[in-house]
Amino acid sequence: MVANTRTNLELNMDRMIIRGGNRLEGAVTISGAKNAALPLVAASLLAQGETTWHNVPGLGDVRTMAKLLEVLGAKIEEGDRVLKVDTSNIDTFEAPYRLVKTMRASVLVLGPLVARYGRARVSLPGGCAIGARPIDMHLRGLEAMGAEISLDKGYVTARANRLRGAKIVFRQPTVGGTENLMMAAALAEGRTTIENAAREPEIEELARVLNKMGANVEGAGTAYISIEGVQELHPIEHAIIPDRIETGTFMVAAAMTGGDVVLENCLLEHNSAVVTKLEGTGAKVEAVEQGLRVQGTGQLHTVDITTQPYPGFPTDMQAQFMALATQAVGDSVITESIFENRFMHVSELARMGAQIVVNGRVAVIRGRPGTLQGTTVMATDLRASACLVLAALVAENTTEILRVYHLDRGYDQLEVKMRRLGADIERVSGPPFPTTNAE
Ligand code: EPU
Repeated sequence: MVANTRTNLELNMDRMIIRGGNRLEGAVTISGAKNAALPLVAASLLAQGETTWHNVPGLGDVRTMAKLLEVLGAKIEEGDRVLKVDTSNIDTFEAPYRLVKTMRASVLVLGPLVARYGRARVSLPGGCAIGARPIDMHLRGLEAMGAEISLDKGYVTARANRLRGAKIVFRQPTVGGTENLMMAAALAEGRTTIENAAREPEIEELARVLNKMGANVEGAGTAYISIEGVQELHPIEHAIIPDRIETGTFMVAAAMTGGDVVLENCLLEHNSAVVTKLEGTGAKVEAVEQGLRVQGTGQLHTVDITTQPYPGFPTDMQAQFMALATQAVGDSVITESIFENRFMHVSELARMGAQIVVNGRVAVIRGRPGTLQGTTVMATDLRASACLVLAALVAENTTEILRVYHLDRGYDQLEVKMRRLGADIERVSGPPFPTTNAE
């Protein structure tokens, strides 16, 4: 599968051209969740045989995870929203730098590999555009479970005959750490408890899947998870939950454009914090038979947000709300408390005419409807790219967004979905025009 598909390893130079001013209207189907799909595909390693995933989003990151499993010896088969992973012949236990550097979530194979095969060698991911993002809590947890951890030439090696249950207390909730250790604990001897665990819906989804595979996980969705290890797990077939961040992004798009959009195949209960804030800006959100309906009601009110671990306001929606805040009348305050460098979109928004002052982790956005102007901007990370698309939807004239490969890592055909809702957006291949603004 992977050989014939463009992955985000071969950075594509596509650009997005957006002519602002259109109101979004109609229905959009939300894809499967990226941040659920990644640990789930990694969890395929825990069982011998073929696991089938349904509702798989068509994303660069999911392809990278599939590619990684292929490198480990898995047989991968891709269909329409389906991914089959056959782990019968896993014979390599190393996640190489060339893959990990393109996607940090590659580190999620560490727990499954060491739990099932007794060894793993995974490149350390290093920092990324949004922060340092260490994995010390993943490693300490595995160590507490009896793994021997060593670091050598940028790689972490973990070895264990059989992991044993342990009491793990996180100093702060970590999504990936909770997932890695849950997967490791599922095959460990005895009981593992995780205190101050992450509570994201993707954690609950992983627990559901592990239990379906024969594991014994309790408490996922709370801060205290308990896992009684079992000898072996079996392959399953499972449909992945909808993407709450894609959902939130389309909700903001509807509100910002004064639109009327029905989001199909999404879950209101995973988006409570986002819905509350969106309603505060004046948008109307209602549950309908197909999912959620969001209506923009004209003038947007300011919004104050502090990102928090779930069930708080998600850091993955911070950039999109900043785009919205540029269109409210007055000052909005956004505090990023999860990642230390997640304001890269600010300077690009400023190039479009936004007035934003950043002081450490706090951004003050002086909103005024109709102030954004199209120009050429650069996507710097996944959610920053989404923020620029949203800004472009309401900007005057044409916006050209470069480095769209960031967007493709986590949004399934965003431009196709937006165009169906009435946005004037197109993807153009190849290098940018010599003159920057297309207008
Ligand atoms: N942290 C540590 N040590 C660790 C692990 C985390 O200090 O061992 C810190 C991080 O540096 C960060 C905080 O803890 O400051 C939370 O990080 P977490 O481990 O929860 O994040 P993650 O697992 O690396 C996932 C999502 C991110 C999302 C964050 C927070 C996946 C694949 N990624 O990352 O998604 O922002 O949780 O909700 O699930 C995105 O989709 O755009 C994205 C970045």
